[in-house]
Amino acid sequence: MTYRAPMKVSGALDGYQFEEVTPLLGREYPDLQLSEIVKDDAKIRDLAITASERGVLLFRNQDINMADFKVLMQKCGELTGKPKTSRLHKDEFASENNTHLGIPEALDPEIYAVSSINNEKIFDNFLDPRDKKFASRGWHSDESFENVPADYTGFKMIKTPKSGGDTVWASAYEAYDRLSEPWQKFAETLTASHGDPTFCSYLESKGLKFRSEERGSPENVGTTLRAVHPVVQTNPVTGWKALYGLGYQVQFGGINDVTDYESQLIQAYFLRIITDNHDLQIRHKWSPNDVAIWDNRSVFHNITSDFVGERLALRAVSIGNKPYIDPNSVSRKTALNAEKVSSKAPLNGS
Ligand SMILES: [Fe+2]
Repeated sequence: MTYRAPMKVSGALDGYQFEEVTPLLGREYPDLQLSEIVKDDAKIRDLAITASERGVLLFRNQDINMADFKVLMQKCGELTGKPKTSRLHKDEFASENNTHLGIPEALDPEIYAVSSINNEKIFDNFLDPRDKKFASRGWHSDESFENVPADYTGFKMIKTPKSGGDTVWASAYEAYDRLSEPWQKFAETLTASHGDPTFCSYLESKGLKFRSEERGSPENVGTTLRAVHPVVQTNPVTGWKALYGLGYQVQFGGINDVTDYESQLIQAYFLRIITDNHDLQIRHKWSPNDVAIWDNRSVFHNITSDFVGERLALRAVSIGNKPYIDPNSVSRKTALNAEKVSSKAPLNGS
């Protein structure tokens, strides 16, 4: 396999102010309207590279419509080199199931309605804030149970509850960097099975449609949501290594080629790196029309299920590349430290 060289921004977004959410991840652009850059490939390319580097980009009070949002998200993937066969994800929860929401966009198979009404009516209150399950059960990376998972997720908030419903993200780069060197090497030998084996039969038992036809890639088909991916992957845009196999989507499959007990231990340890280190997390309190764009190869995310009332967001997800690990790639910290050293080196090399 030939591996790609990391991509660098061109400077096309240099005219926009921004603020880093924390030193480690997240960036907010206070005066950028995404609707104004949707026809500017240079700016979209830099936007996508920045999302891959910073993990999450935040934009408040956006007027972009969903048709343009779909174009933007597909271009984020295309302009950063995703395969030609990768398109926008069509969710396995078929859009025909959303007629009761009364929102035309929710009937578009390339838009997924993240709806608290659906959670209450269809998903047996999976997100009920009164239940006693640990909130950490929800950490995930979008569409990781597909053979070709998501690269960029675009998430536009439509309706918010009076309080709560924040989204949290955690750096997958930093999760890898927090492993000791022997564990980093060990993790790189592992694969994990991602999936939700009962989702299709669950929907069918409720008289709802599961989408088994192509879901954003010719490799994403069928009624079984199961995919095997490396536990450490290289983000092809940055060239940095990131932890991948943890959280909700591996709990039904687990770590391959180890004992069941070892799989439980490894999953618990990797999840704990996320849950015990708030310094590698950020949190966004939503207002209507806020947008977040994140790279699922750079971060994990989770909803905060503490709210009462309606929460509705519309999501467009770009399907990316088959996860892989480039043996010559390095961690984010190693790469950034090397950049610092090379920028300090005298030009004559003496
Ligand atoms: Fe998600």
